[in-house]
Amino acid sequence: MASMASEDLAFFYFVLLWPAGICKQTQGLKCCKPLTGEPAEKDFYLKGLYPSDISGNYLTGCNECSFNINEISGLEEDLQKYASNITCPSTNSTDSWKTLWETYGVCSGLGQHYYFKKSLELLKQIDMLSILSKHDITPTTQHEHDYSVAEISKAIKTETTYTASIKCSSNQYADYELLEIHLCFDKDATTIIECPVLPIFTCPAYVEFAAYSFKDTASKDANPIRMTNKEDSDDVEAMKDCNGRDDLITYSGIRIGGVLGVFGGVENEAIRWLFGAKNGVVQGLFKAENGVAQGLLQSLWT
Ligand SMILES: *[C@@H]1O[C@H](CO)[C@@H](O)[C@H](O)[C@H]1NC(C)=O
Ligand SMILES: *[C@@H]1O[C@H](CO)[C@@H](O)[C@H](O)[C@H]1NC(C)=O
Repeated sequence: MASMASEDLAFFYFVLLWPAGICKQTQGLKCCKPLTGEPAEKDFYLKGLYPSDISGNYLTGCNECSFNINEISGLEEDLQKYASNITCPSTNSTDSWKTLWETYGVCSGLGQHYYFKKSLELLKQIDMLSILSKHDITPTTQHEHDYSVAEISKAIKTETTYTASIKCSSNQYADYELLEIHLCFDKDATTIIECPVLPIFTCPAYVEFAAYSFKDTASKDANPIRMTNKEDSDDVEAMKDCNGRDDLITYSGIRIGGVLGVFGGVENEAIRWLFGAKNGVVQGLFKAENGVAQGLLQSLWT
């Protein structure tokens, strides 16, 4: 019933983007703000959470589950901040989220809401800006100040114990910029792992890690902008069912038959299926209409 992960899914590449790598890329052009929303001006962005097979090949286009804007409700602000397309000319970020979902997300085995939410959470959890700043690697406006790529890698290894791959960009003046940092997560997208296949990029020994700003806007001197996306640690989430069901909705602490359990439901326009779980084990299913349980399929709480 749920959109299945590709059978080949072995792990995820998680790719962080340092926006200056785009802002200072070609023809001296700066990056552009998207048509809607305010992108963060002092932080790493989410490039993507890419499902991969065991050989390190990205899995794409596994099914026809199309992007549904309603699925990312509640996440838009953080996505606009941390996952906007800032390539000039300005674009509608919705288009890049759609591309990300329909190309890669559909192979993740995750629901659409959860795919984006998880991606934002990983970005926050890693907190790359803090990792680097602990090792005195901070974005700089001094043009001549370059950082050693080996030092950047070492800082990440020291703080996370895992090996990252670093990708750089260059411009016509052969200034090399930090562009992307690639790390790996297990197939549940929850635990950081050593990359089964570490991507190899060519960077010079030293790169810029430059502060960035957007075309026609003054550079803000604010602190790093941390995402607002609040953690709801006890929520239960399910895979997206592409036949029209939305993500799992959680109802915690509902009392039925005198037993306190955690209840989740998968909702579509017509009906709601709820399951009850006790001690982390699904105990049964029942159907609810207008919020009222119509009957238990299994005797739940005996
Ligand atoms: C962005 O694209 C979405 C979907 O295509 C559309 O609904 C929305 O109005 C667009 N926003 C802007 C500012 O163009
Ligand atoms: C980002 O925007 C650029 C042009 O502004 C466009 O060429 C590119 O396809 C967009 N990327 C995505 C993933 O939508």
